[in-house]
Amino acid sequence: MADSDRMEKLVSLAKRRGFVFQSSEIYGGLGSVWDYGPLGVELKRNIKDRWWRAMVHARDDIEGLDAGILMSPRVWEASGHVAGFTDPLVDCKHCKQRFRGDDPRIKGTPGQPDAQCPACGTRGSLTAPRMFNLMFKTFMGPVEEDAAVVYLRPETAQGIYVNYLNVLQGSRQKIPFGIAQIGKAFRNEITPGNFIFRTREFEQMEMQFFVRPGEDEKWFEYWREQRMAWQAALVRDAAKLRWHQHGPGELAHYAKAAYDIEFEFPFGWQEFEGIHNRTDFDLSRHQQASGKKLEYFDQERNERYLPYVIETSLGADRLALVVLCDAYDEDTVEGEARVVLRFRPEIAPIKAAVLPLVKKDGMPEIARRIYDELRGRFTMFYDDGGSIGRRYRRQDEAGTPFAVTVDGQTTQDGTVTVRHRDTLVQDRIAAASLATWLAERLAP
Ligand code: GAP
Repeated sequence: MADSDRMEKLVSLAKRRGFVFQSSEIYGGLGSVWDYGPLGVELKRNIKDRWWRAMVHARDDIEGLDAGILMSPRVWEASGHVAGFTDPLVDCKHCKQRFRGDDPRIKGTPGQPDAQCPACGTRGSLTAPRMFNLMFKTFMGPVEEDAAVVYLRPETAQGIYVNYLNVLQGSRQKIPFGIAQIGKAFRNEITPGNFIFRTREFEQMEMQFFVRPGEDEKWFEYWREQRMAWQAALVRDAAKLRWHQHGPGELAHYAKAAYDIEFEFPFGWQEFEGIHNRTDFDLSRHQQASGKKLEYFDQERNERYLPYVIETSLGADRLALVVLCDAYDEDTVEGEARVVLRFRPEIAPIKAAVLPLVKKDGMPEIARRIYDELRGRFTMFYDDGGSIGRRYRRQDEAGTPFAVTVDGQTTQDGTVTVRHRDTLVQDRIAAASLATWLAERLAP
């Protein structure tokens, strides 16, 4: 299958089966904002829960936080985002298309006669790059004036920095320790696209790990290893993951060193998680701008210092796209083509479907009872419409790992069949043991 076909099929499946819809579609859509439907919202929640469990619940040295999206505009001045969170913007005067100045498809130097528009091919029509700030602005209060400007946060990290002493005091943590947060971020991207890969509103899962200066490089390596292991355990094909080290020209204004974890999407290798050594850049800027001491007193060493920060930053939407691309598969079952999403059971939106073989002989009643018993513990789906083959296919497309079928034998001996999505093997087990059976297979 050509990679472009694969992406097109995935986007169409995502819409058809209720994973992802275009925002405000009935009004023609809003550029690069997407809404998650019933299956999508479950998938994304499961992904976020998996991250939260690994980063917060499973560790003694990381605390959680949920800071506001709106923050004092002084935060963004101090962090360097007002002055430096910009992308170079280039317009074609001929076809009116807009590009990032560093778009690799642009031949020549934008603004010069030799530069060629990658869309219409015209030479000399590209404007010189203008720096464009990616932060969305709005106003707080009833008056739209400069003094009332606030920004929609472009990263969640700053909410962690300005709260780090509050968390430290309330939690009795000692350095090294981390703060994790999941939340929305907004960027007025110049060239968004590729479905939910680059959007203007997205969710980040970020963790800032505060360490002693001088121990930052050791912790940077530690977190690189941890994050790659976590990602490799999530996807089916770890060969589609690789590292990309940022060269000096690529580093963000706050970073001393940075590595991206990249995935081989149908549209090529692209970043989806970053591990950054942010040094004491952010804390020292906030200390200076706020006039508040943000130093940590290290009792063991009897010294005060501004901690260094190792950041792990992952997009929940981008990871959802990784998971969808990784899971998408097509095969043939009994001579019929099927589309199947091979999610790990733990993150699948629906864990099991309960299906009466036919709509008579007491089977729907038994199936309904099983469904009602299990739905309190697992995300379940009940379906009694259409042929059993068709119902299996619908669950395959939704990525449901198990299908429980109530048949004639169930009415005799209380057993059901459980069909495995990937192997198509059918086990016959006692309906009464289903909860334990499922729990064993859904453990992370
Ligand atoms: N706090 C550091 C930071 O925000 P980043 O590399 O700009 O670093 C981190 O972003 C992650 O956030 C990316 O790897 C990606 O997964 C996600 N992300 C960034 N911009 C995005 C966008 N426009 N749409 C979707 N996800 C985005």
